[in-house]
Amino acid sequence: MKDKGWFSRNIRKNRRIYAIIYISYILILSGLALYYRNMSEKTFVARAEVAEMTEDGVPVEDPREGVVILGNRSKEWSEGLTPGFNKGMEYDFIIKNNTGGDIREWEAEISFASEYVIDSSWNGIYGVGSDHSLTVKPDDPTKSVASGEEKKFGLVMISDKEQKPKEYRLYYKSDFRITDAPIFWLILAAAVITVTVCITDEVNNRRYRKLRKWQEEIQDILLESFSTFANIIDAKDPYTQGHSLRVAEYARLIAGRMGYSDTEQERVYWIGMLHDIGKIGITDVILQKPGRLDNSEYSTIQTHVDIGGEILKDFKALPDIADGAQYHHERWDGKGYSKHLAGKEIPEIARIICIADSFDAMTSPRVYRKALSVDFARSELVKCAGTQFDPEIVPIMVGLIDDGKVPVNLEE
Ligand SMILES: [Fe+2]
Repeated sequence: MKDKGWFSRNIRKNRRIYAIIYISYILILSGLALYYRNMSEKTFVARAEVAEMTEDGVPVEDPREGVVILGNRSKEWSEGLTPGFNKGMEYDFIIKNNTGGDIREWEAEISFASEYVIDSSWNGIYGVGSDHSLTVKPDDPTKSVASGEEKKFGLVMISDKEQKPKEYRLYYKSDFRITDAPIFWLILAAAVITVTVCITDEVNNRRYRKLRKWQEEIQDILLESFSTFANIIDAKDPYTQGHSLRVAEYARLIAGRMGYSDTEQERVYWIGMLHDIGKIGITDVILQKPGRLDNSEYSTIQTHVDIGGEILKDFKALPDIADGAQYHHERWDGKGYSKHLAGKEIPEIARIICIADSFDAMTSPRVYRKALSVDFARSELVKCAGTQFDPEIVPIMVGLIDDGKVPVNLEE
């Protein structure tokens, strides 16, 4: 259950993180879209004195660092002119769009030193301002100059003297597309990756949840099967009701304090439940006999450890389960039964169960005596540490008693 809580918390945490990431993407993209919309509405100016003009053209304020060029060529002549004019001049201008976006709503402004008259013109709508500046707009105001393309226009002007442009200006708006921004593609790629990771995560979570549910069902089946077995064992001996379950619980608590992992404690619990399984091979006459047993009956009852070991010997899925049944009546000093093992020859699981078993036997009523007090059982454990019981495990059980962890009442 502890894991389940952790798992649910993590799913919630992950979902919160994904939500924050998506919101961040949306905020960045919205900011970017807003910026690009404003940029598209902005009027840029390319401006240069004739003296500053290079072959590359006029640098502009456009953040894409493109250049918009206003180039010019001219012819001039003095013959055949309308009386009063001395010079005829032809100008060709070029707008080269080297910026990353299309140029639209452009207007060129070329200033001249003195008066002149436009004789003819092409590609544009021309006007002359009060300060002798020539303005040129596109014929079709909806037509833009695409990125990388150029627009040519020109005119023939007549004047009383030679005219040379002083300054060029080009006002224009430029199309900024969000797709031009490298960060847009980065965010798009990041979003695709996030979505992929999120979907994978969600699919894995679902699979994991399904697996956990299935695992919990199996666990329930196991627990109920083992409890049923334990009830069968305890039903053989009406004076030891709940004995197997209590021994299992005590053994698990001891294992917990010995540093066993959760899974190992679970294993110890299962093994504790079936430690007396051999009793199903002992006749009811002896098991249910009121009063003390004679020597031969006692010898018969002792065989339950060998029977138990034999019953469980092929139960390989739960390591040590046969050892729990076979050796839980061995004593630390070697005077137990049935194999007379001593000290650490006795498997640890059996040494744990031995203490759990003895404590429950003492604190449960028998047909020939009442239940002994917890204090008495505690003192017996201490007294027999190193003879009957593992002297290192007894203090652990005593600690559990002193902390009120045992005995337990499983009917509560
Ligand atoms: Fe036993």
